[in-house]
Amino acid sequence: MMTKDKSARATGDTAKLEIDGQSYDLPIYKGAVGPRVIDVSKLYAQSGHFTFDPGFTSTASCDSDITYIDGDKGELLYRGYGIEQLAANGSFLETAYLLLNGELPSSKEFDEFSNAITNHTMVHEQMQYFVRGFRRDAHPMAIMVGMVGAMSAFYHDSTDINDAHQRMVASRRMIAKIPTIAAMAYKYSIGQPVVYPRNDLGYAENFLNMCFAVPAEEYHVNPVIARAMDKIFILHADHEQNASTSTVRLAGSSGANPFACIAAGIACLWGPAHGGANEAALNMLQEIGTVDRIPEYVAKAKDKNDPFRLMGFGHRVYKNYDPRATVMQQACHEVLQELGIKDDPMLDVAMELEKIALNDEYFVEKKLYPNIDFYSGITLKALGFPSTMFTVLFALARTTGWVAQWNEMVQDPEQRIGRPRQLYSGAAPRDYVNLAKR
Ligand code: SDX
Repeated sequence: MMTKDKSARATGDTAKLEIDGQSYDLPIYKGAVGPRVIDVSKLYAQSGHFTFDPGFTSTASCDSDITYIDGDKGELLYRGYGIEQLAANGSFLETAYLLLNGELPSSKEFDEFSNAITNHTMVHEQMQYFVRGFRRDAHPMAIMVGMVGAMSAFYHDSTDINDAHQRMVASRRMIAKIPTIAAMAYKYSIGQPVVYPRNDLGYAENFLNMCFAVPAEEYHVNPVIARAMDKIFILHADHEQNASTSTVRLAGSSGANPFACIAAGIACLWGPAHGGANEAALNMLQEIGTVDRIPEYVAKAKDKNDPFRLMGFGHRVYKNYDPRATVMQQACHEVLQELGIKDDPMLDVAMELEKIALNDEYFVEKKLYPNIDFYSGITLKALGFPSTMFTVLFALARTTGWVAQWNEMVQDPEQRIGRPRQLYSGAAPRDYVNLAKR
């Protein structure tokens, strides 16, 4: 990956900041597209002041070439290509190559990459015994965090982050093995034997086979379902500096090995405000149950005193329709049609809820639209996955984005260990008082 010329971002403009009569000129940079940024990296040294931005709503943490989101337009680009075009025309492995390398692969490049991924899908046999240490009712995401973190114990020869070859090997191992680990977590949780990967199957096809094949009979993956799964992986592959990607970058900034960084990303993605929303959205639709109960839940979502939120709605960046939700809704209808599921009551509830929410002034005023998690739960349930596997599938796909972002961060000369500061509002200095006197 080329280290880019960062001088191209200079605008010559500055933001003028005045503090206590002292003025500071802060450089303004421009990207290829999107908001410009104000470089505050020298602000503390110059002014003794920190910036304050809990939740990082106005903070750019890095200069990245990978993914661009225009929240107002509802636009998502991977290396400049629209998500709709990639989902309609590309494959997940092609998208993985694009995210990792910056360009769509030639046929020769794609064959080399996909063969490498295909031939690294098996995990060390000892990992069978590792997964058996979990209770059978362990949440598959708990197994994913543990198993991926444990990979650094099995693959010592690709943990030196300063070695380009080892970074490439670790990146390909991660992308190749994450479906195998996800399928192992699923099989273990349902008490079925692990199904090994097969080199004659494509990426999504192999994953579906590892999840749904059983030794007792032949299993043939439905090609329409495999294509839908592959498309779902494309939609989830990367998404700029979201919470879990920022977690991977922060972990990586300390020099931690790539497997530990991806495990940290999986842990963060698990939260219901983030990747856990697909499981939470489906559980919400099941709890609502019927269309006539929707107003009751919309009222709860609008009630400031009620912590309930409509899962699958709203987004930190999208203040328009999440473009992935549109593609996901199409994939949802394709899957339901292929599987002959005509009247899924949850789909009826989802579509009616979407219609009501999009016309409700609270949601309109706050620009709360369905996000990728709104329709994914219905689709994944129709594919045969339990809701506890939904975030596992999100993590499977997002591993490619995390790996691409991690590689960019490790090679970025501007990146140092991430170490935010704080506004301290605690106790002033005071002396210890002996227990006998307290
Ligand atoms: C993902 O960042 C990414 O890119 C994430 C992701 C990715 O691909 O990596 O896109 C994946 O995480 C998608 C989001 C999945 N989460 C959910 O669907 C959970 C429900 N959504 C909310 O929790 C919320 O919308 C967030 C967490 C997604 C965004 O939170 P923000 O940006 O911090 O917005 P906010 O919580 O400040 O909300 C702004 C206002 C608030 O009201 P006020 O305090 O201004 O009066 O909108 C309200 C919120 O109460 N609000 C909602 C709501 N989401 C926001 N009210 C009801 N239902 C909701 N879903």
